[in-house]
Amino acid sequence: MVATPREAFWAFGLYLLVLVAVWVVARVPVGWIAARSLIELPFVVLALALPFTGGGERVRVLGVAISAEGALAGWGILAKGTLGVLVSLTLAATTAPHELLLGLRRLKVPPVLVTIATLMLRYAEVVVAEARRMRIARISRGDDPRFLWQLGATARGVGSLFIRSYERGERVHLAMVSRGWTGGVPEASATGVRPVRAAPALLVERLAYAYPDGHQALYGVDLRVERGERVAVLGPNGAGKTTLALHLNGVLSGGSGRVEVAGLPVEKANLREIRRRVGVVFQDPDDQLFLPTAAQDVAFGPANFGLRGRELEQRVRAALAAVGMAEHADRSPLHLSGGQRRRVALATVLACDPELLVLDEPSANLEPVARRELAEVLLGLDRTMLMVTHDLPYALQLCPRSVLIDGGVVVADGPTREILADAELLARHRLELPFGFRLD
Ligand SMILES: Nc1ncnc2c1ncn2[C@@H]1O[C@H](COP(=O)(O)OP(=O)(O)OP(=O)(O)O)[C@@H](O)[C@H]1O
Ligand SMILES: [Mg+2]
Repeated sequence: MVATPREAFWAFGLYLLVLVAVWVVARVPVGWIAARSLIELPFVVLALALPFTGGGERVRVLGVAISAEGALAGWGILAKGTLGVLVSLTLAATTAPHELLLGLRRLKVPPVLVTIATLMLRYAEVVVAEARRMRIARISRGDDPRFLWQLGATARGVGSLFIRSYERGERVHLAMVSRGWTGGVPEASATGVRPVRAAPALLVERLAYAYPDGHQALYGVDLRVERGERVAVLGPNGAGKTTLALHLNGVLSGGSGRVEVAGLPVEKANLREIRRRVGVVFQDPDDQLFLPTAAQDVAFGPANFGLRGRELEQRVRAALAAVGMAEHADRSPLHLSGGQRRRVALATVLACDPELLVLDEPSANLEPVARRELAEVLLGLDRTMLMVTHDLPYALQLCPRSVLIDGGVVVADGPTREILADAELLARHRLELPFGFRLD
C-alpha cells in the first residue's frame, strides 16, 4: 500500500463528507450501512494490532509503548478500508445491480465482460434465492438453523444448496440456448437452412429417451402435427410430457427415433435454425429468466436472432404488452410474483416470434383473469402450438386436438372433446375433469 503523506490526511475527511452528503440526498438508511459495515472487522483488528507489533521508533501513549510506524500504517488501513467499504455500500444502497451493469455498458466495457458480470450476478441471485427457499422449507418444518445442534443439517444444506444452484444454473443455460444463445454476439442477418415447405410442422417418430441416470422417460413417441394446428398434450405426472417438449428444440437429445420441425431434422447442424423456429416456454419460469430486468430478458432471444435497435424495442414492448406485463418492464424478474414471472417467461418466447410454440403448463399459477387473457393472446396467434397441460378445460378451450401420453408413449390422440368425454380413458390415466365442469 502506498503511504498517504500526512499533509494529505484532510482528503480522507473530505471524502467522508461527500459520502455523507450522498446518504443525505439519497436518504440511505444509516442503520443499513452500519449493519453491513461489520464486514470491515478484520481490517479493524489488523489496524489495532499494528501499533503493538510494528517495528521502528517507539513512543509512549498513556504509559504504553507503541510503534509510531505501526500506528501510522494502522491508521492508513483503517481510513482507506473504511472509506472503501462505505463507498461500496453506498453504491449498493443507491444503485440497482442492473443499473450498474448498464453503467458498465455505457463505459464501453467489452460486451463479453458485461455478459460475464451479468451471468455472475444472476448466479449469485440463484444461490441466494435457493438458500432462502431451503431456509423457509426448513423453518416451516420446525427446524431453527440458528441452533448449534442443527449444525449437521445446516452443513448438509450447504452441500445440497450448491448442487441445486448448479442444476438450476444448468437449466437456465438450457433456456438461454433455446433462445438462440451461442456464447457469442450473432451477426445481424441470420440466414439458416430453408425448411421443406410441404412438410408437417412437427413430426416425431419412435422417439425414445433415457435420462443420464438410466431412467427411461420416453418409450417410442409418435406424433404428427400439421401447420397451424393447436394440440394439447395431456397426461399424469411423470408421463414424459416435459421430456417430449424438451426434444422439440434439441435441448434434450441422444435417444433414439427422430424429430423433424417443418421438415428439418432436429440435429446439431440445424439447431440454430430449429431454435429460431421453435419457442419452448419452460415449466418453471425461474429456469427461463436470468437477466436483471424483464425487458432485457424478453430482448435476449430476438437479439440473439439478429434484431437490433428500434425493431428490437418494439418487439419487446409488444411481447410484454401481450402478456399484460408492460408496466413491469424494468423490474427484476426475481422480484415478481409466480404468476407474473410465468407471464414474462411466456413473453421471452413470444418475442422470438416462433413458428411452433411449445408451452409447458402455461396456465399454472395464473389468476383466473390472467388465465383467460392468456387464452385470448394464444388464440390470436396464428401459430402451430403444442400445449402441455393438466388444465383440461383450458385444453378444450384452446386446442381442438389432444394427445394423451402415459408411461412414455402416446395412448390416445383425437379431438379434445372426444378425449375429455371418455371418462374411462381419463380415469385409466389419472386425469379427471374439475368438480362441476360439464362438457356440453
Ligand atoms: N433430469 C432427470 N433425470 C432423471 N429422470 C428424470 C429427469 N427429469 C424427469 N425424469 C423422469 O422422467 C419421467 C418423465 O418426466 P417428465 O418431466 O417428462 O414428466 P411430465 O409428464 O412432464 O410430468 P409433470 O406433469 O409432473 O410435469 C419421470 O418419471 C421423471 O421422474
Ligand atoms: Mg412436466
